Amino acid sequence: MATQSSVKAVMDNVEVTFGGRSVRLPVVRGSEGEAAIDIGRLRSDLGLITLDPGYANTGSCTSAITFIDGDRGILRYRGYPIEQLAEKSSFLEVVWLLIHGELPSAAQMKELKAQVTHHTMLHENFRRFFAALPKDAHPMPVCAAAVGALATFYQEPESEGLIHDTVIRLIAKMPSIAACSYKHSIGQPFMYPRNDLDYASNFLYMMFATPCEEYEVDPVVARALDLLLILHADHEQNCSTSTVRLVGSSRANLFASISAGISALWGPLHGGANQQVIEMLERIAAEEGTAERFLARAKDTNDTTRLMGFGHRVYKSYDPRAAILKRTCTEVINRVGGSSRLLEIAMSLEELALKDEYFVSRRLYPNVDFYSGVIYKAIGIPVNMFTALFAMGRTPGWIAQWLEMRREPSSKIGRPRQIYTGATERPYVPMERRG
Ligand code: CMC
Repeated sequence: MATQSSVKAVMDNVEVTFGGRSVRLPVVRGSEGEAAIDIGRLRSDLGLITLDPGYANTGSCTSAITFIDGDRGILRYRGYPIEQLAEKSSFLEVVWLLIHGELPSAAQMKELKAQVTHHTMLHENFRRFFAALPKDAHPMPVCAAAVGALATFYQEPESEGLIHDTVIRLIAKMPSIAACSYKHSIGQPFMYPRNDLDYASNFLYMMFATPCEEYEVDPVVARALDLLLILHADHEQNCSTSTVRLVGSSRANLFASISAGISALWGPLHGGANQQVIEMLERIAAEEGTAERFLARAKDTNDTTRLMGFGHRVYKSYDPRAAILKRTCTEVINRVGGSSRLLEIAMSLEELALKDEYFVSRRLYPNVDFYSGVIYKAIGIPVNMFTALFAMGRTPGWIAQWLEMRREPSSKIGRPRQIYTGATERPYVPMERRG
């Protein structure tokens, strides 16, 4: 499994002067022309660090996996536009592409499918692991715990020879873990995977079949799910991916790193937004005519309400994934015959927001989560499973980023600095002399 490393061309430099001393810092350029100041010598030569809360202006690594141009609404995996992958590829093809850097040949694809199918089952002891958790547990912490627990079943996952097996196990077992987390929450028996089904269909089967009732997988639903997985597969250095890299930088194993990524993804400002969007749309549907009132609250700086599924740290124009999903919503609803009420509310909220000075001036547009929930809902996915599906889709991206980081010869343990603002040195005060 070879990963490419990006070419670093030093084209220019920047002079920084501080305290009477100067240092010339090189400017590093990426293959799409983005420029970054390499501050490696800032502390040693000038005694300075940079301060950038939320890392909005900080590149933590070079990477050859995913390219985003937030101003032009561009997303590419390994150079391939997301629109083309969404239309023409399958999730497992994208898994190979992200991890290996190239589209698979027919033989490689066959091999990947066979390997993933072979590893979908969970160890029987996992039943007892799930049984120990409260019945009303949210699927996200259950998935995070289960993926962490895989490291107890496969104990040498970090060695280069065994990493291939770990990668396959993670891709293969994520749907089984996610489906078990759902079955556990509704008190139904776990279903064993079916080797005759494709990736998305097998997940739907494990979610919805029961020992007493067969479940016929609708190919339209399976394709919609496969598309959602493709669109979520990677998104460069977001919160959960940076978490995976940071945890992995300590040489923690892949299972532990991805378990941490799942926890980071759960937050409502990140992957958890898809659940929040549908809850928001349902609230608005229940209280007819409240879209304007909701928007007014989202704009009120004294109110913490946000228009969920809107805004993005990188996209300052339409998120291309949201554009694809918006188109897909109507197709899916027409094919499966569900209610289009939530879609109508989402579209009217979008229309209102995109005409509103507050959202326009802040360049807030729909992101991937704005329409994904409408599709999940239409294809029968329970709301508390939305973010677990995001995690399933993001797993190959996390793996590819982790592998890239670990194979980079100059990679170091992640360890940011800080500017200390607490008390300066003071003597210890014995208890009897404290007020
Ligand atoms: N509704 C109302 N106001 C917003 C929103 C929103 N959804 N998003 C940002 N703003 C305002 C924010 O209040 C701030 O206003 P001001 O300049 O007056 O203080 C300004 O826009 C900039 O926001 P920010 O929080 O500084 O921007 P950020 O880059 O730190 O945050 C974000 C990005 C995605 C966390 C944020 O836009 C947000 O909370 N959106 C809603 C949650 C959401 O949909 N998350 C999913 C993100 S996409 C999937 C993923 O990759 O996780």
